[in-house]
Amino acid sequence: MRRRRARCSTWLACALGVTPVMSAEPIAASFFTAEQSSTGQQLYDQKCGGCHAPDLGEGSHGPALRGDHFWATWGDKSARELYGRILSTMPSGDPGSLSQRQVLALMAFILATNGYPAGATLLESPAQLDAVKISKAKP
Ligand code: HEC
Repeated sequence: MRRRRARCSTWLACALGVTPVMSAEPIAASFFTAEQSSTGQQLYDQKCGGCHAPDLGEGSHGPALRGDHFWATWGDKSARELYGRILSTMPSGDPGSLSQRQVLALMAFILATNGYPAGATLLESPAQLDAVKISKAKP
């Protein structure tokens, strides 16, 4: 993989050849753990599965959160947008009832179901999702 040369943050950094570690780095391949995804799955079963299908396919009272519908709706958007949508509008009968941590776990579960790999990095802050583009061709 080729990396563009990072710009120097200061002339001194330049002179020393120091390259800042920044968000412009390529997206890490994984940004949540398997444990978070299974926590998310439990939450999903409790809070979402009544309307959305247990396997995230087309539900009785809610759209599919995987497959063609998911990619058509969310493909090329940032994962932060999906996070925001869930945080502010779901569960539809009680929006605003989920904590940030709960929605982060739900994101881990939904993205894992859509093929994103779990790894060693904890998804601790919504800001981590800014850099993640929802894409069929995973980062
Ligand atoms: C009472 C039923 C109900 C519950 C419970 C519910 N949803 Fe939904 N959800 C819907 C409906 C209906 C829609 C589509 C209309 C809308 O956006 O309100 C939707 C839309 C969505 C969308 C947008 C999907 C798209 O294709 O645009 C997401 C993401 C989502 N729900 C996630 C969740 C998550 C995560 C939970 C659990 C925390 C949850 N929902 C709980 C009914 C529900």
